[in-house]
Amino acid sequence: MRTLMTAHDLGDLNKAVQEALEVKKNRYGYKHLGENKTLLCVFFNNSLRTRLSTQKAGMNLGMNTIVLDVNQGAWKLETERGVIMDGDKSEHLLEAIPVMASFCDIIGVRSFARFENKAFDYEETILNQFIKYSGKPVFSMESATVHPLQAFADLITIEEHKKVARPKVVLTWAPHPRALPQAVPNSFADFMNEANVDFVITHPKGYELDEKFVRGAKVEYDQDKALEGADFVYAKNWSAYQDPNYGQIISKDMNWTISTEKMALTNNGKFMHCLPVRRNMIVTDDVIESANSLVIPEAANREISAETVIKRLLEDNF
Ligand code: CP
Repeated sequence: MRTLMTAHDLGDLNKAVQEALEVKKNRYGYKHLGENKTLLCVFFNNSLRTRLSTQKAGMNLGMNTIVLDVNQGAWKLETERGVIMDGDKSEHLLEAIPVMASFCDIIGVRSFARFENKAFDYEETILNQFIKYSGKPVFSMESATVHPLQAFADLITIEEHKKVARPKVVLTWAPHPRALPQAVPNSFADFMNEANVDFVITHPKGYELDEKFVRGAKVEYDQDKALEGADFVYAKNWSAYQDPNYGQIISKDMNWTISTEKMALTNNGKFMHCLPVRRNMIVTDDVIESANSLVIPEAANREISAETVIKRLLEDNF
């Protein structure tokens, strides 16, 4: 493996989950792999879980870890070629990437969708520039369209908590006050489509995701119907993907908030969310605080998904 963007990059997903569960049992057992290797985590956007879990994963593997917040202390970066740089951006990504790469062995990049240009976002322009110009293994720490470390952690969590061989997993849209990217639901769909689960997506009309990730999965516009018999409820907000509303909020319908009444429709289902979450918009206090809420073990598994991915990058490239 040289890059991580999709479930496909992990090869056999069941094997990857089993490997992650081995890593979880012995998370300090692979320190020799990262000796004298440096992990650089580049953040163009805020983070709590990704920052801490990826840094911790690198340390578990014996790596030195550097975190760069591009917008706090570094030069402002221009990302588009051909721009006359007479504004507030002092450095171009095309110089910055090889310079960053000269100080590290593996690079993680967080770079959200900007919603200014759908093609720029969906071509993963920033992440692909890191892949092209760094000469190093590169992984997404949530880029414009994908969040594979989150989806991998979600799948590990489902594997740990499932009670039947093929659980019903429902991805449900829920309301939010701000326009959010589609990266988390895209990657969740990408991974669930490759996993042994009965996968259903539910959202209001107009919130259809890119077919590249949905790949024919069942879409049910009636949330109550979708939730019937669910073993896992994965709530997430996203903004519209389809034109002409790309990146826009088209509904804030609070009837889609996951409440105790909604969870009563499920098969004593577990509640999941990637966090950070807006309480009483996405999910009510009582659901997120209930015994069926997996949000904390799910976040803790981010260390395991990151360690498994970085372990493979070390094994395959050095
Ligand atoms: N779930 C997730 O990626 O959290 P952060 O944005 O805090 O890293």
